[in-house]
Amino acid sequence: MSAVLSVEARTRAGSSIATVLLGTGVVGGAFLKLLNTPAASSIRLVGAANSRRQQTQSAQLADPALRDKLRSHGDPRNDTALLGALDADEASVKVIVDATACGVLASRHAEWLARGYHVVTANKSLAGGDLPGWRTLQAALATGGRYGDSATVGAGLPVISTLRRLRHCGDSLLTLEGVFSGSLSYLFNQYDGSQPFSALLRRARELGYTEPDPRSDLSGEDVARKLLILARCAGFALRPDEVEVESLVPEGLRGVDVESFLSRLEELDEPLAARHAEAAARGGALRFLARLNQRGRARVGLVEVPANHPATRLYGTDNQFALSTTRYNTQPLVIQGPGAGPEVTAQALLGDVLALA
Ligand SMILES: NC(=O)c1ccc[n+]([C@@H]2O[C@H](COP(=O)([O-])OP(=O)(O)OC[C@H]3O[C@@H](n4cnc5c(N)ncnc54)[C@H](OP(=O)(O)O)[C@@H]3O)[C@@H](O)[C@H]2O)c1
Repeated sequence: MSAVLSVEARTRAGSSIATVLLGTGVVGGAFLKLLNTPAASSIRLVGAANSRRQQTQSAQLADPALRDKLRSHGDPRNDTALLGALDADEASVKVIVDATACGVLASRHAEWLARGYHVVTANKSLAGGDLPGWRTLQAALATGGRYGDSATVGAGLPVISTLRRLRHCGDSLLTLEGVFSGSLSYLFNQYDGSQPFSALLRRARELGYTEPDPRSDLSGEDVARKLLILARCAGFALRPDEVEVESLVPEGLRGVDVESFLSRLEELDEPLAARHAEAAARGGALRFLARLNQRGRARVGLVEVPANHPATRLYGTDNQFALSTTRYNTQPLVIQGPGAGPEVTAQALLGDVLALA
C-alpha cells in the first residue's frame, strides 16, 4: 500500500488542520513533499502560492508537480483569496505557513494571528526585524494565536524551544555564543590559509551552501537577525541597531551588482589571510560568532578563538549554540548540528504545524 495519502483521502478522513503555504522555493518545496507523508495525514493543504501565482483548487494542490506548475499556471497572487480558502474549510485549526523571506508578508503575521489564524514561519523578517514589529507580534500573540518559529533559527535545532523552557523555569541567560550560519560555519571550518578565501567561497557557492549573492551571508545581517530572535526569546527586547555587526564584505564591494561582486571576490583574500595568519601564530582559529551577554550586549563578527574552543569542533555547515545560564553555569548547555538545509527546515515547519492540533 502506498504511504502517500491523497488529498481526497484526507478530506474523507476529516483532516483537522487546514493549511495555506506561502513560498514554494527550496524550503516550501521540501514542505510540500513532507505533506505527502503519513506524518502529515492530519494536514490538508487548501492553498499554495509563490510570489506571482497561487492555487486553491484541491485537484491541483494534490498534483505532485504543483511547485513546478505554479511557475506558469494558477491564479494571480491575492492574499484575500488564499485566506478565503482557509475560511471556507471546516477544519478546527487554520494555519498559514510562511516559507518566504518576504518582509511584506511577515508584516502581516500579527494581523493574521489577530484574525484567528495560526502562523508557522521560516521567515525571520518579523521576529528578527524592527522592535515595533516584534512588539505588535507579542500583542497579537496575547489574543490566542500561536506562532511557530522553530525554523527561523538553526533550521529547527531545538534552541528557541530550549531558551523558552529555561526562561519558563526561572533560569536566566548569562551568555549565548555560537555559530548561527551554515555557510559561514562551512567557510571558517575549512579555511586554513592553504587556499585563498575566494576559492573556498566559490566552492561553497557551487555546493549551494551560500545564497546566490554570497554577500547576504558575508554581511552578517542574517546572523544578526537570528541573534535578535534568540535575545528577544531570552528577555532582551533589543533593537536591530543594538546588535554590533561586522561585515566581511569590503566597503567597495557593498554597492556593486552580483556579477561584479563575484568577479572581484579576490579582494576578500588579503585581509582575511592576514587575520588568519595572526590567529594561527597564536595557536588560535577564526570563527564567525554571534554573542550575547547578560547585559544584553550583542555582537556578530569574526573572532579569534583558542584551539580548544567549542566552535573549533564543528563539521560541514553545523550550527552551534552555547548557552550559559544561572543553572547551567559551570559548563554551557550546547546545541549543535545541521543548521540549514531544506529537509530539516521543512521538518521544523511541519513539527510546528502538527503541534497546533
Ligand atoms: N534554505 C534553507 O536551508 C533555510 C533554512 C532556514 C530558514 N530558511 C528561510 O526560509 C525562507 C525560504 O527560504 P528558501 O531557501 O526556500 O528561499 P527560496 O528558495 O528563495 O524561496 C522563496 C519562495 O518564496 C516565494 N515568495 C516570495 N515572495 C512571496 C510572496 N509575496 N507570496 C508568496 N510567495 C512568495 C518565492 O516565489 P518565486 O518562486 O515566485 O520567487 C519562492 O517560492 C527564508 O526566509 C529563509 O531565510 C531557509
